Formats: sequence, C-alpha cells, structure tokens
Amino acid sequence: MSTNNGYDPGLAGVLAAETHLSHVDGLKGELIIAGFPLARLAANATFEETVFLLWHGRLPTQTELDDLKQELAGLRPLPEATLNLLHSAAQAHTTPMDALRMAAATLDLGIEAADNLTTAKTIVARVASIVASYHRLRLGEEPIAPDPALSHAANFLYMLTGTPPSDARVRGLETYLNTVVDHGLNASTFAARVIVATQSDLVSAITGAIGALKGPLHGGAPGPALDTVFEIGTADRAEAVLQAKLDAGERLMGFGHRVYKVRDPRAEVLGAAAEKMFQADGDMALYELAKTVEETAVRLLAIHKPGRNLQTNVEFYTALLLHGLGLNTDLFTPTFAVGRTAGWLAHCFEQIQYGRLIRPQSRYIGVMDREWVPVAER
Ligand code: ACO
Repeated sequence: MSTNNGYDPGLAGVLAAETHLSHVDGLKGELIIAGFPLARLAANATFEETVFLLWHGRLPTQTELDDLKQELAGLRPLPEATLNLLHSAAQAHTTPMDALRMAAATLDLGIEAADNLTTAKTIVARVASIVASYHRLRLGEEPIAPDPALSHAANFLYMLTGTPPSDARVRGLETYLNTVVDHGLNASTFAARVIVATQSDLVSAITGAIGALKGPLHGGAPGPALDTVFEIGTADRAEAVLQAKLDAGERLMGFGHRVYKVRDPRAEVLGAAAEKMFQADGDMALYELAKTVEETAVRLLAIHKPGRNLQTNVEFYTALLLHGLGLNTDLFTPTFAVGRTAGWLAHCFEQIQYGRLIRPQSRYIGVMDREWVPVAER
C-alpha cells in the first residue's frame, strides 16, 4: 500500500513493534517461531513446550515441562459463573466465537489478585475449557470435566468428545496449535499489545484479541475451503468446478495471501500433519482429493491471474486437518484461538516489559472554522 504523507492505510508498511517471538518472510515463505523454523518446532513440540518457549525464550527442562503441564491441568476447571454464562449463551444460540468472547471476560474470576504468569496460565487452560464446554452445551450435552492426566491438546479433544483421543490425533492437534501460535504483528496480536500497553490487564487484552480474531478478515474462513473440496467430491470434477468458480469471478478459498507470495509455510506443515493423521486413521480418500484440488487450483490460478503468485494458504490444510480431527466447521476459529492465546500472552509480556504506551496519530481531514448554530435555529 502506498504511503500518503506518512499515512499508510491499514498500517501496511508501518513497523510497530520489535519481537523475539516470530518472524514472517512472505517472499521466502518462511515462518520462524522463537528461533525455530516452523516445520522443526510444530511437528516435534508438545503445546506446553511451545508455550514455555514463547513465554521464557528457551525450551523447558523436563522438570519445568512437567510442572507447567501439571499447573495448566489444575487450572482447567471453569468457575460456576463462566459455566452459567455459557449455558445462557447456548440457550440463545450464540455462535462459538461470540460465546468465547463473552466468557473470556470472566477468565480471571477467582484469581483477580494473581501475578501475570499465573493469570496467563489460567487463561491458556480456561480458554480451551470454554471452547470445549460450549461445544457440548450447543449439542444439548453437559460439559465434560477436564482430565488432569491428559496433556493440553489431548484434554481439549477429550472434553469435546468424551473419548480419550489416539496419539495420532493428539499429535495432529498439537502440530496445529503450534503452527498457529504466533504470526508476527497480526491484527489480534496488535490489539492485545495496544490494550496491555495502557497498563490494562491480561484478561482485557485477551478478550480484545478474541474480538479482533472473530472478524472474517482475520480469523479467516477455513470452512469455505473445506466446502469447496466437498462440493468437488471426486478428483475428476476438480478442474471443471474450480474453473467455473473463477469464470464466475469467485475467489478460490484457501488460496492467496497478503504477505506470502509463495506457498504459506503453515500449509506445508499442516498438510504433512493431515497426511499422517489420515494415514493413521486408515482412510486417505479426503486427503488425496484435497491434494488434487490444491494442485488444480494453483495451476488454474496461475493461468487466471498470471504474475499474482496465488498459492495455498494456511486455511486450506487447517480445514482438512481439523475436519480429520472430527471438529465441526464452527469450531475452527475458536480452536485457532486456543492456540493463538499463548502467542497473544507472549506478546503481552514483551509489551509490558517494553513499557511504552502505543499511541499513533491521526490526520484531521474534517471541516474547519464552523460557526455555532443554536439548536432552535438548525
Ligand atoms: N482466488 C481467485 N483470485 C484471487 C484469489 C483467490 N483465492 N486471491 C486473490 N485473487 C486475485 C484478486 O481477485 C486480485 O485480482 P485483480 O488484481 O485482478 O483484482 C489479485 O488476485 C490480488 O488480490 P488481492 O485482493 O490484492 O490480494 P490480497 O493480498 O489483498 O488478498 C486474500 C489476500 C484476501 C487472502 C485473497 O487472496 C483471498 O481473498 N483469498 C481467498 C480467501 C482466503 O483463502 N482467505 C484466507 C487467507 S489466510 C488468512 O487470512 C489467515
């Protein structure tokens, strides 16, 4: 976006923070999380290891990891008032992201005087419990009590379904949560940093970030990407269906990105995770179909929009992976929040340490020198 006397619409070219947390290179297709290339971290780390890495700048020792796991597990149960709120939201048919935003404001109930690190752990633990509990309530079922013996990812799947998940599914979800944990100064992260920079509190920052993530321009819509794959149905229909969409002026969901002009590195990692998970489940049909849809879409987009470099983005394989994990489409964005919460909090810690109010300027373009007209004469 071009600058206009120092004004950059959407702040596209504005450098607004320095961070140790993640580095996004859209031309190289590179995402570094706290020094690790995404692929090296996402498929190896447990989610708890990633949380520790982002919050402390290094990997935990075994004892530190065990302690963090235990602490997070102990913080999972939701306060009665949060559960009551979720019940009311379900009765009102509130969407999962709205219910999460409402419940987020109660995240520090009972721990109001806690230090920031304890509050952060409580937030990470409870956000997952809120998403899973609300899912049950929307189905007309009671929430499932968390299982302290399970890891964060395993417990989330358990609280959604009531069944302890397979190792392959836990690994799939863990890879997903690690993959979306942080991504530079995206809109929700910026929102969190702005809030905490006023010396407000972590819960306010996370509630604001959830509000920002909810918007379709940010939280994205992996649902429609999956709908396209289902609409195509069989590999032989891919070219005709996708070409018809392009001819009708539609955008192909799951392709193109504002920053990445090569294949989104998150698509690579999530595609590999989806492949492993579908392999473990013994049914590769949907994965194979998605691969064909991807290849066909990238080929047709290169012809349709030459020079635009429209490649697969994170949403395409997010949809496939989360669907393979048995998650409904309406759980995709809340599950994104389950992972990103740890990144938001890490940015809050950085911002608190930096300690400077974020306060940009605006340029007034309204009228000047108005005459005051008394109300009776207007
Ligand atoms: N299918 C067809 N054409 C496309 C697509 C697409 N997926 N993406 C971009 N184009 C076209 C546009 O129509 C435009 O053509 P034009 O210049 O002739 O008008 C050109 O390519 C460039 O498009 P922009 O809108 O400038 O690209 P921008 O970088 O602003 O948009 C975006 C990126 C919004 C992601 C876009 O690629 C898109 O709409 N993709 C489909 C939706 C999607 O997958 N969203 C999830 C993104 S990932 C995330 O947000 C986490």
